[in-house]
Amino acid sequence: MEEEDNPAASRTTKMMVFSDEDPNTETKATQHVPQAVKDAVFVQSISLPETTPVVKGYDFNEGLNYSKLFQSFEQCGHQATHFGLAVKEINKMLTIRSQEFAKPDYAELEEDEFIRPKSNLVIFLGYTSNLVTSGTRDTIRFLVQHKLVDCLVTTAGGIEEDFIKVLAPTYVGSFHMDDRKLRDEGINRAGNLLIPNENYCLFEQWVNPILDKMIEEQKTKNILWTPSRMIARLGEEIDNEESIYYWAAVNKIPVFCPALTDGSLGDMMYFHSFRNPGLILDIVQDLRRLNTIAVRAKHTGMVILGGGVVKHHICNANLMRNGADFSVYINTGLDYDGSDSGARPEEAISWGKIRKESNPVKIYADASLVFPLLVAETFAKHHFSQKNQFGKPLYTSRDHLRSSDFPMN
Ligand SMILES: NC(=O)c1ccc[n+]([C@@H]2O[C@H](COP(=O)([O-])OP(=O)(O)OC[C@H]3O[C@@H](n4cnc5c(N)ncnc54)[C@H](O)[C@@H]3O)[C@@H](O)[C@H]2O)c1
Repeated sequence: MEEEDNPAASRTTKMMVFSDEDPNTETKATQHVPQAVKDAVFVQSISLPETTPVVKGYDFNEGLNYSKLFQSFEQCGHQATHFGLAVKEINKMLTIRSQEFAKPDYAELEEDEFIRPKSNLVIFLGYTSNLVTSGTRDTIRFLVQHKLVDCLVTTAGGIEEDFIKVLAPTYVGSFHMDDRKLRDEGINRAGNLLIPNENYCLFEQWVNPILDKMIEEQKTKNILWTPSRMIARLGEEIDNEESIYYWAAVNKIPVFCPALTDGSLGDMMYFHSFRNPGLILDIVQDLRRLNTIAVRAKHTGMVILGGGVVKHHICNANLMRNGADFSVYINTGLDYDGSDSGARPEEAISWGKIRKESNPVKIYADASLVFPLLVAETFAKHHFSQKNQFGKPLYTSRDHLRSSDFPMN
């Protein structure tokens, strides 16, 4: 019988019955209960393995220590536990990635600096466009600026919004606004964020001369552009330290975006094609580049925020190497509709995109809320604890002060 059909088996009743010291002893409270009811309710408990974690939350009497608070999540239950497991999974990636790297021969032979193997573990970071529209963009920029990830995959909005923010700000609004009025006022709404039309005009003015130069180089220097080469070029052109793709170009971190035309950048390329047609973007060459990174990697880790193209593109590249070693997903997708966005990591194991022996983690949450906290407990701690060749901390006490909410212990 299902629980909802049997009020006697409700959670409350079970808790009352099993709160006795020895649940198997006949007590005054239970001795007159019909045997059929006892058989249904008083199922003898097995002993759980001694290593089974006990549920416990953070005790604020210990003071306000964010690091301890986040460390307590693993024992809290629900998605807090998944957060704790994700911290462990990413820290494993960082440990292997920072171990001494014995360069394989082809690492030196590889002419393409962006895909040359550089460490024992390649971290793929994927994120949907809306995360770059949000302030999560700055968390991603930190990771790229400090070379804490090796390969990025995003969608078109995830590229253009980064450049647009250098040219003009995005504003915080609300999920509930008069959208018809916003239309008349030339303001675009993305969730609770607002982007004026003016920003896209500035973007067009900035990008058009670059598109002209790209076509010129295609014609005169036989350059075959791909989305990743175009993003690196735009990163060089923006020349601004606030930009994710400025740092990706400086640090030779490749950025893949197979559907680069599905956003404002596509609109710009469309309008531009009337005045100056002929630009070619080769997505097959990029696929080669992305899959080569996965195939040559000694180990791989995937950190994927959101679903859709970014999730599948990274997982599919990892299929080429019989699966990723470490995986963390943060997304709101559910799998009852059969969508790839909602598919749990276990499904990817069946396809060979995640290794059978690995322990992938999925956090069901809005990444704008959770990812900065996850970075605080993993990448940022790792970064601020780095030492130079003489064993001295690379970062000064001032740097630590800036990160004082996240003590190093
Ligand atoms: N700012 C924008 O969102 C924007 C701008 C321009 C173009 N576009 C285009 O729209 C298309 C669809 O966008 P997309 O593929 O980047 O993703 P999407 O917005 O369609 O999201 C895909 C899935 O990811 C998950 N997800 C999204 N946001 C999340 C979050 N904050 N936290 C956790 N999970 C989340 C959800 O399950 C969602 O169904 C792309 O081609 C993109 O270029 C988007």
